[in-house]
Amino acid sequence: PRTAAVIPAAGSGVRLGPGAPKALRPLNGTPMLVHAVRAMARARAVALVVVVAPPAEVDAVRSLLDEHPPPPSVDQVVVAGGATRQESVKRGLAVLPEDIEVVLVHDAARPLVPVDTVDAVAAAVRAGAPAVVPALPVTDTVKQIAAPAADGGVEPVVGTPDRSLLRAVQTPQGFDRATLVEAHERPGDGDATDCAGLVERLGVPVVLVPGHEEAFKVTRPLDLVLAEAVLARRRK
Ligand code: CTP
Ligand code: MG
Repeated sequence: PRTAAVIPAAGSGVRLGPGAPKALRPLNGTPMLVHAVRAMARARAVALVVVVAPPAEVDAVRSLLDEHPPPPSVDQVVVAGGATRQESVKRGLAVLPEDIEVVLVHDAARPLVPVDTVDAVAAAVRAGAPAVVPALPVTDTVKQIAAPAADGGVEPVVGTPDRSLLRAVQTPQGFDRATLVEAHERPGDGDATDCAGLVERLGVPVVLVPGHEEAFKVTRPLDLVLAEAVLARRRK
C-alpha cells in the first residue's frame, strides 16, 4: 500500500516565544521543518510528503523545500493549514491522491524522530493495525486536578493515576487512510490533541509501539537547546 506522511507545520509556536512560526525556526542553521521532512522522506515506506504550512508562509515553504529536495522517489506537496492542529491535518488529508492507503501524521515540531521509529509505525499499520502510536513511559508522577487555576493560583489535587499505566505519546502516528479520514469527518465534541484521540472516539482500536527519546516535541525554549545537542552528537 502506498504511504504518505502528512506534516502539520502551521502552528505559530506561542510557547517557544516570539519569532518566526515554530516550524521555520532554525536548528543548527536548518529550519526545523526541513529536518522533519527529511526524517519522514528517509523512511522506506514513504512515497509522498504533504506539508501543511502556516497560511502566510505557503510560498516561502515551497521555496524552502525546493532548496532541500527529498530523494527522487518521494513527492512533495505544500498546502495551507488552519486554526488548529486538527484542522491543519484535515487540510492535508484533503489533498491525498486516491492510491494512498496508509497515512503517517507527523508534527514538524518533532524534527529528530529516528527513521527506525517511523518504519516501525508504518510496518505496524501495513501489518493490519488501523491506528498505531509511538509512546514512552511517563517519567514524572502525574497529578489530576479538578480545573486549572488562574496564573500562580494553587490547584487542589484530585488524584494520582498509577504511573505504570500512563504513556506519553509521540508522532508519527500511523493510520489506515479510511479510518483517519472518517475520524476527521466525525470528530465529536471538544479538543482532541492528537489524531489517535479522534480515532478512539470512533471505537476503533488504537495500539502503542515503542517511541524514542529523540522524537521529543520542541515546545519550549529549553527544547531547542536539547535538539541542537542531539544534532551535535549525531555529527560525531
Ligand atoms: N499545528 C498546525 N496547525 C495549527 C497548530 C499546530 O499544523 N493550527 C502543528 C504545529 O506546527 C506542530 C504540531 O501541530 O508541528 C504540534 O503542535 P504544537 O507543538 O502545539 O505547535 P504550535 O501550536 O505551533 O505551538 P504552541 O502550541 O506553543 O503555539
Ligand atoms: Mg499548539
